[in-house]
Amino acid sequence: MDYKGIDSEEIIHKPVLLEETVNLLITDKKGIYIDATTGTGGHSSMILSTLDKEGRLISIDRDEEALIITSKRINDQRQMIMKSNFSDISLLLNKLNIEQVDGIIFDLGLSMLQLKNNYRGFSFNSDERLDMRMDRNQGQSAYEIINSYSEDRLSEIIKSYGEERFSKKIAHSIIINRKRQPINTCKELASIVIGSIGYRGKIHPATKTFQAIRIEVNNEIKELKKGLLASINVLKKGGRICVLSYHSLEDRNVKIFFKENQKKGLLKIITKKPLSPNQQEIKNNRASRSAKLRVGERL
Ligand SMILES: C[S@@+](CC[C@H](N)C(=O)[O-])C[C@H]1O[C@@H](n2cnc3c(N)ncnc32)[C@H](O)[C@@H]1O
Repeated sequence: MDYKGIDSEEIIHKPVLLEETVNLLITDKKGIYIDATTGTGGHSSMILSTLDKEGRLISIDRDEEALIITSKRINDQRQMIMKSNFSDISLLLNKLNIEQVDGIIFDLGLSMLQLKNNYRGFSFNSDERLDMRMDRNQGQSAYEIINSYSEDRLSEIIKSYGEERFSKKIAHSIIINRKRQPINTCKELASIVIGSIGYRGKIHPATKTFQAIRIEVNNEIKELKKGLLASINVLKKGGRICVLSYHSLEDRNVKIFFKENQKKGLLKIITKKPLSPNQQEIKNNRASRSAKLRVGERL
């Protein structure tokens, strides 16, 4: 399938820790499951092929475009595909008249579809307007944030969401540059960051800044906290929650959430240490290299 002139090989996301995650998620093959971050449907298809004919899957995402592709790739009566933010899963289940589910998977972050489609404004090389919205009907984009936030606020976001030690320098450069003219594209922002801190290590100098702005645009940490909390309320006893995270800020929040709920007697931690992809998987899919899988079971 060709999508908007882009090779489908590029935009179909390679699911990470696929078998490991699905094997740990499914405790009852006749149960109801939620894929809270469906993307282009990698984990959803594996869940469907593992479930019995009585099993059901609710596949959600906040990105409509991803769901259009998933609905073209998967045709299965047992699956419902719905646009939703995962922080609204209680509301969604209410609407569907479903009280509890047997398992939920969160595969956080961005899909290849979002990263590789230049017009979505997520990647360093994009000549398109800064955007970075997962849900393109949602309010402010990266353009508004970069061109309107104060220097202090930008610096704080880049520091806390990007864990970038040169946040002050970068924020200052953004302000100086935008005084001349608005910062329009991803490429422009990336070159401002390069100009400000230069090349230092192996990763692109703008990686942490882009991560920070993307998290702010999509309110990712707040949504994650709400989504995890909601999942505790909708999981059956014995049901599992599987979370794949891709950077330390996400993983820290997941780890704290699991520990707190274990203390409260609501969750048993199944993965004492988080699972990571092996060398072979990393070789086949570079994007998987930072993945961490944590799994908890509702008590
Ligand atoms: C890493 S991709 C998932 C890939 C998917 N597991 C697959 O195998 O194709 C993450 C997806 O989560 C979605 N997402 C991120 N935050 C979300 C939220 N708060 N609510 C719903 N979907 C979200 C993104 O739009 C993206 O499509």
